[in-house]
Amino acid sequence: MPHTRIAPTMTDESALHRASGDDGLAFRACFGSFATGVTIATCAAENERGTAITINSLTSVSLDPALALFCLESSSGTLASFLRAGHFALNILAEDQQAISNRYARDHNPVEGDFDAPWGSGAPILRGALAVADCVLHDVYGGGDHRILVGQVVETGWRESAKPLLYYRGNYGSIGDSAS
Ligand SMILES: Cc1cc2nc3c(=O)[nH]c(=O)nc-3n(C[C@H](O)[C@H](O)[C@H](O)COP(=O)(O)O)c2cc1C
Repeated sequence: MPHTRIAPTMTDESALHRASGDDGLAFRACFGSFATGVTIATCAAENERGTAITINSLTSVSLDPALALFCLESSSGTLASFLRAGHFALNILAEDQQAISNRYARDHNPVEGDFDAPWGSGAPILRGALAVADCVLHDVYGGGDHRILVGQVVETGWRESAKPLLYYRGNYGSIGDSAS
């Protein structure tokens, strides 16, 4: 009997997997491949304690006028607060702030000690953030199961000496020294 070679059933890790756009797991695998930073979006309407939520959907939109956006799940308990406040701050996390990211992905009440005094808009400013954009709410658009909140950037701040916290395929990371 000739020897039959059985082809190994291992998956080819270098293959480009393809799936329908409405396959939720594939959608996550695809867009989770886009490495991002991590941001805490905050707001505080008058006489309210404030709201903070972890997001990675931050995008700068326009330089003139200065606009930036983030996408917020329509079912989020935080949406009403952002709409009521009419402003938000985008606090971009430094690499040592992973615990802050986890905290505000679960609980949206700003913890005293995590935040400094607000700037012009009134939104809480995260202590130790890598960068901050203070925004006045400019437009709100529908986007499927999310809302797209566009802000006019009224003030920015950044730190030269820190590195960003990264998020990639559901895991945190940081930039290696050679990429700095
Ligand atoms: C790294 C990271 C990025 C996230 N990005 C977003 C985002 O861009 N928009 C969003 O609505 N939720 C995002 N989330 C989820 C929210 O932080 C939060 O966990 C979720 O909205 C909780 O639901 P709730 O707002 O109803 O309490 C992200 C969570 C993590 C950990």
